[in-house]
Amino acid sequence: LSILPTESGWLLKTLYNYQGFWQTARQLQGALTCQKHFKAQDTDILLVTTPKSGTTWLKAILFALVNRTHFPQTQHDHPLLSNNPHMLVPFLELKLYIDGENPDLSSLASPRLFATHLPYVSLPKSVQDSKCKLVYLCRNPKDTFISLWAFTNKLRLQEMGTNSIEEVFEKFCKGVSLYGPFWDHMLGYWQESLKNPEKIYFLTYEEMKEKPDLHLRKLAEFLGCPFSSKEEEGMVDAILDVCSFDTLSNLKVNKEGKLPSGESNNAFFRNGKVGDWKNYLTVEMVERLEKICEEKLCGSGLRF
Ligand code: A3P
Repeated sequence: LSILPTESGWLLKTLYNYQGFWQTARQLQGALTCQKHFKAQDTDILLVTTPKSGTTWLKAILFALVNRTHFPQTQHDHPLLSNNPHMLVPFLELKLYIDGENPDLSSLASPRLFATHLPYVSLPKSVQDSKCKLVYLCRNPKDTFISLWAFTNKLRLQEMGTNSIEEVFEKFCKGVSLYGPFWDHMLGYWQESLKNPEKIYFLTYEEMKEKPDLHLRKLAEFLGCPFSSKEEEGMVDAILDVCSFDTLSNLKVNKEGKLPSGESNNAFFRNGKVGDWKNYLTVEMVERLEKICEEKLCGSGLRF
């Protein structure tokens, strides 16, 4: 185990490097326990994301998609209307295994739907060995960074003050962010998705924003639950509608509720736009981040 703490905590806690990626001590405990105990089933669906890439949105979409026969979108008591998506699709290492315990997940209805921020190298072995499917979501680095910076400041206690954008940017560029280096996380899954497209569906926030109906249909096919002609357009639109930023962010549960871990549900909904970085980053910051990404992603075929 090579665990090297950063010199100071810039989020709320000190970050540790495990298998090349930064995480808090608690998250690391969850990762190790999950690696040890989680047994993937062939029918499992695992949503993997970089933090602040739209995890909450995709959790909602996948939940609505795979449960569409149990919970029609038109139903006024659809679970998404009264639960934050993080309560419906649990994170493996951040929720199910975070206390170092081994929960019994065997009785969950199939397909089981989980989420994780773990990098490809840290996935429990059974994920690679089984036929379970992975949906990977990431987002352009500039918006991811701004969303992350805003999120960490929102979570900080008032007396801690705010993290300056320069301070967080410097670390981000050095690869020090939750589950960073950001580009290594993306590349790990990108390269695997090229080798095994049946196993990993690689998606960006921008693609999903631009053509949500196309990607929802493709996700349904990828997961083996394509929309039938009988379901018609109505079902696709209804899912996208219930999962939209406007719908989810205006629900009482997401405006006022909290997760058991203490975060306010509204921290996961800021403005949900592509290109908001233009309001925050200086020309120098943009140039630096673009240069890093060009160098790191060079030759991979992955571009933003
Ligand atoms: P912004 O901070 O840019 O607004 P995550 O869920 O991975 O933590 O990502 C959070 C980001 O996704 C936030 O981005 C948030 O506003 C955005 N988001 C949350 N729900 C969304 C939705 N239904 N549609 C689009 N974006 C959404």
